Amino acid sequence: MVAIQAAVMEAAVATDARWDGLFVGAHLATLDGEGYAAIEDGALAWRDGAFTYVGPRADLPGEPSSLATQVVETSGWITPGLVDCHTHLVFAGDRALEFERRLQGATYEEIALAGGGILSTVRATRTADEQSLFDTSLPRLDALVRDGVTTLEIKSGYGLDLDTERRMLRVARRLATHRGITVRTTCLAAHALPPEFDGRPDDYIDAAIGWLSLLNAEGLVDAVDAFCESIGFTPAQTRRLFEAARALALPVKLHADQLSDLAGAALVAEFGGLSADHIEHTSEAGVRAMAAAGTVAVLLPGAFHVLRETKLPPVDLLRRHAVPMAIATDCNPGTSPLLSLRQAMQLACTHFRLTPQEALRGATVNGAQALGLRDRGLLRVGMRADFVRWDIRHPAELCYWLGGELASDVHCGGTPVHTPRVRAGA
Ligand code: NIG
Ligand code: FE
Repeated sequence: MVAIQAAVMEAAVATDARWDGLFVGAHLATLDGEGYAAIEDGALAWRDGAFTYVGPRADLPGEPSSLATQVVETSGWITPGLVDCHTHLVFAGDRALEFERRLQGATYEEIALAGGGILSTVRATRTADEQSLFDTSLPRLDALVRDGVTTLEIKSGYGLDLDTERRMLRVARRLATHRGITVRTTCLAAHALPPEFDGRPDDYIDAAIGWLSLLNAEGLVDAVDAFCESIGFTPAQTRRLFEAARALALPVKLHADQLSDLAGAALVAEFGGLSADHIEHTSEAGVRAMAAAGTVAVLLPGAFHVLRETKLPPVDLLRRHAVPMAIATDCNPGTSPLLSLRQAMQLACTHFRLTPQEALRGATVNGAQALGLRDRGLLRVGMRADFVRWDIRHPAELCYWLGGELASDVHCGGTPVHTPRVRAGA
C-alpha cells in the first residue's frame, strides 16, 4: 500500500467548472449492475462536473491526451463518492463524561430523563456563536471527507429554539460552500423537548411547525426529521409535524423504532418518506410499508455499537422485501461519535452481517436515494463526477480495515476535495 500524507484542500483549489480529467489504470467498482459491477484496468473521464467515460482503458475512444487536459496514470480501486445520509455533525461540546457514566451502568434513557443526553448538547450549542460552531464542526467534516465522503446530510436539533436551529442550519450550508462538497440539511427541531416547554410537548410541536415554515422560507431546509420515541415525541405528534412538512412540500424522514417499536417506520412510509432510520425494533408490517412506499432503511451501526444494543435491525426482512439499505455514521456527540463512514460500513458488516458489497451500496447509491438524490452514487456516464480512488487491492478492504487512511483522491463534481500531499516516489 502506498504511504501517503494527506491533506484536505481548500475549496479554492479548482472552482473552474470546465475542469476535466481522466484517470487510467485503476479498477472501477461502478456499482452499475450486479455486485460491484467491476471493470478491471479501467478509465474514468469527466468534464463539467459529470462523467463522460466509464469503462475499460482498452476501449477508450481515442488517445487519453485527446480526451482530457489532465491524464493521471494510477492504480488501486475507484468507487463512487461516499454518501453519509444521516449525521448530527454540527454541535458544540462533547459528551465524554456521559460515555463514562454509561460504562458504569447508566442507560441512555436514564441520562436523558435526568436532563442530560441531547439536552446537555443543546445547552452547549445554544451558547456557541455561529463562527465557533463552524470552527468546531469543520474538523469533523474534514475527517469524513478524508475518508471518502462527498455528500452528507446534516441535521439541526441541538437548538430547540428558532435562533439556534437557524444557526445550526446556516453553519451546515456554510460548511458545504467552504469545502466544495454537497450538504443536504434536515430540520430536526422535534429532537427533544426543551425545558421551557416542560410538560407541554404539543405546544412545542406547534412552535416547531412555525419555525419550520420560517426556516424553509429562508432556504435552510431540505427535509424534516423527528425523534419518535418514548423519550422523544409520540407518533401523533410526529404525524402533525409531517402534515406540516407535506404542506410545505418538504420530504420527511424519521428516527424510527430505535429503542422500542412505536411503528415509526410505517408512519414515515405512510408519508412517502425518504427513509426510516435506526429501525432496530421495526416489525415485518413496518418493513412491508417501507417496501410499498420506496422508503430507504438507514442503518446506523455506530449508535448500535456505542449503546451496546443487542436488538438487531431486521436485515433479512429488508432483503426479502427488497428495501434498499443505506449505512450512515449518525455522527453525534451522544450515541455515535463516529467520524468515518468506512468505519460505519465495517460495523454494519460485523454487527449486522451485511456483505461488503451491500455496505458499499449502502454508503453510496442507497445513501443518495435516502437523500432523494438520483444523480450520484454510481460510476456512470452522465452522473455527477463524485468519486474516490482508494489504495486497496480489493473493494472488500473498505470494510475490512479498522481505521487507517485508504482514500487517496476524493473528487466532488470533478473537483478534488482531498488529495495526497505527497505521493510515494513522487
Ligand atoms: O440518532 N436518537 C436520537 N438522536 C441521535 C442521538 C442524539 C444525541 O444523543 O445527541 C441518534 O442516535
Ligand atoms: Fe440520529
